[in-house]
Amino acid sequence: MIDFDAIPRAKLPALLRAMPKAELHIHIEGSLEPELIFKLAKRNGVALNYPSVEALRAAYAFTDLQSFLDIYYAGASVLLKEEDFFDMAWAYFEKAAADNVVHAELFFDPQTHTARGVPIETVIRGLHHACQRAHQELGIGAKLILCFLRHLSEEDALVTLEQALPYREHFIGVGLDSSERGHPPRVFARCRELGLHLVAHAGEEGPPEYIKSALDVLHVQRIDHGVRCVEDAELVKRLARERMPLTVCPFSNVKLCVFKSLQEHNLKALLDAGLCATVNSDDPAYFGGYLNQNFVDTFAALPALTARDAWQLARNSFDASFASDAQKKQWTARLDAVFATA
Ligand code: ADE
Ligand code: ZN
Repeated sequence: MIDFDAIPRAKLPALLRAMPKAELHIHIEGSLEPELIFKLAKRNGVALNYPSVEALRAAYAFTDLQSFLDIYYAGASVLLKEEDFFDMAWAYFEKAAADNVVHAELFFDPQTHTARGVPIETVIRGLHHACQRAHQELGIGAKLILCFLRHLSEEDALVTLEQALPYREHFIGVGLDSSERGHPPRVFARCRELGLHLVAHAGEEGPPEYIKSALDVLHVQRIDHGVRCVEDAELVKRLARERMPLTVCPFSNVKLCVFKSLQEHNLKALLDAGLCATVNSDDPAYFGGYLNQNFVDTFAALPALTARDAWQLARNSFDASFASDAQKKQWTARLDAVFATA
């Protein structure tokens, strides 16, 4: 039995850093740091619109999701070769290992690359190689989730799925990201038949109706973000009843002005409503920090969050992952051990 009440708040930052955790909402293109963007631009002879790393970083002042996406897609233009995708993912895994991430399910946006003439094979092979090495050398269970871009047509998504199918064994699921517009139900139905896991961004900027249609039309197994569910009390009850995970991204929500500040974030309310909320970094290179920073700063900003909440968030991240039950049990035992000795 863990005595959560005996853990002083002062111990929380160290505990949050030390606890094993899974990251379930990270766009690997969003981990591309300005330094790596410049390095890859030079290596590949790609011209950038910014004269320096500092100038690029200074442009990271977003007013909403679209203002971020414009810069994010421009940053990804330096990725051309298999080794570029490998280098990007490997840099993330090294940071994740330092944050005690034991499992990561990485989103990638193939259409961002195929639209520029980069073969999907190049994208998937580079990322897959990094995932394999992360498992072997860092002990991280690393999986890929292919995301369809919501601002493109369903036909484009169907073509992308066909292009990806020769590499079916290299990704465990599909997601839906980019600006919240419409749903591609046919491509999700096809992915379901193929035994892929299904997730979707919904209720980030869009209203609760997006969450409901992700559940009822797309039949997703997790909602990415979903923080706007609180605007619909019935929906909150349903999410709690169905134990539908929400992959919450505090830094992202503040940078994209979904909340004015971390102090106003609704993470505590989501947990108190019995929701399976998790903490994630979304696009850490753009939003000010990786997973542990999200945890530590959010707990500092929200004094109502407790040691039990910290444990619950890590536990939720395992439960919400697409890992095996045996694996989840092992991680939970490691989590308990960290809290028992706190
Ligand atoms: N692509 C990368 N980050 C995203 C976000 N926060 N929302 C939607 N699409 C994204
Ligand atoms: Zn996201």
